[in-house]
Amino acid sequence: MGHSDPQLEVQARQQYWMPFSANKEFKQEPRMFVRAQGMYCYTPDGREVIDASSGLFCVAAGHCRPEIAKAVYEQMSTLDYIAPFLRAHPKAFELASRVAEYTPEGMNRVFFVNSGSESVDTAMKMALMYHRVKGEPQRQLFISRERAYHGVNMGGVALAGMVNNRRAFGVGLAGVYHMRHTALPENRFVRGQPEKGADLAEDLLRFCQLYGGENIAAVFVEPTAGSFGCLPPPKGYLNRLREICDAHGILLVFDEVITGWGRMGANFGAQAFGVTPDIMTMAKAITNGAQPMGAVVARQHVYDAITEAGPERGVEFFHGYTYSAHPAACAAGLAMMDIIRDERLIDRARDMSPYFLDAVYSLKDLPIVTDIRGVGMMAAVDVAVDKAPGARGHEVQKRLYDQGLNLKNTGDALILAPPFVAEKKHIDEIVDKLRKVLSGL
Ligand SMILES: Cc1ncc(COP(=O)(O)O)c(C=O)c1O
Repeated sequence: MGHSDPQLEVQARQQYWMPFSANKEFKQEPRMFVRAQGMYCYTPDGREVIDASSGLFCVAAGHCRPEIAKAVYEQMSTLDYIAPFLRAHPKAFELASRVAEYTPEGMNRVFFVNSGSESVDTAMKMALMYHRVKGEPQRQLFISRERAYHGVNMGGVALAGMVNNRRAFGVGLAGVYHMRHTALPENRFVRGQPEKGADLAEDLLRFCQLYGGENIAAVFVEPTAGSFGCLPPPKGYLNRLREICDAHGILLVFDEVITGWGRMGANFGAQAFGVTPDIMTMAKAITNGAQPMGAVVARQHVYDAITEAGPERGVEFFHGYTYSAHPAACAAGLAMMDIIRDERLIDRARDMSPYFLDAVYSLKDLPIVTDIRGVGMMAAVDVAVDKAPGARGHEVQKRLYDQGLNLKNTGDALILAPPFVAEKKHIDEIVDKLRKVLSGL
């Protein structure tokens, strides 16, 4: 890159096939970042852009934390890599026990992976394996929900409830049934958990009655659906799922890839909403996004059942990744655990939430805004559909970048999830810029 001829410049961009992106458009009009610090990212021409979505819900502690950079550098100079199968390094154990300090009581067995998608597929396998060793190998069905996002691996795509992520790939994936989503029209502009909608959890009971609860391995839900555009659970909804799972011996899995590590104003969605699952997934903020990493945390009895059923001196769970518990990721994770503890980052998220939500809900008066949902340090602003679904949302995220605001849109939902180091002035800047761009549409 760096050609003076614009056509050559476009040519030089062709090799990179971008994920979840409008490749053709981007290569004609790229919107790039070359540097980031704290709340801001910087464009190649040096413009400052405030990061209202923490990258992709990752940088809870703000960009380019020197503590993490130093820890990764030192780790890379000491032990760069070691096979995670039948070998280990001390930081993997250390990080697992630090993670378990934040998860609900009894959820204390930590399996490391490299992404949210891998955490979901790993959790599916854990559920299948658990039932198999408990003498119920017929439990092969999974239940998830419309509007869910569970990553892009084949298991996660089967669970997915977002049509564009399924229609090309998910048609042949059997054995997953979807509960209805909880975005009821009467819940428009509700802040936090809606009063209405807990009865939608009865869909699970209907599946138990239709397919036999004894055939269902696990129910997967995001405590608050994130990627679709922030759908907090109706009051009592997760509790009811828990009850039905218990009554039918089904494992409850919370996909906490976004909701984990403070985003809901508590350690995890589990604590924020007072419901403890059997297995939870996480990724993103576990390393502040600075290294790829995810984890699956299981209740101890799930781990015990699987490991005790295995041979005395042989592999018990035939699953793992070359980069599971990678030393650099563990070092980044440990540095992030220190930041979370020393800066009381999760308390900070909880304390800033009311100011953040007040600011976002102040956009309600704009005629173009059709709904706002928010909880903790996450919110979504829906803009009215224009031409085709998603067209306006796409246009808005481009204009926002040009005006100095970075956020993620899913269709016509603009998703806000700022780093927890945000101060009131940053929240004001985000909402002012949003108002300006939305008012000009
Ligand atoms: C709830 C949930 N699960 C899984 C994933 C997939 O994570 P990754 O993109 O790291 O594979 C995401 C990503 O946003 C997510 O929000």
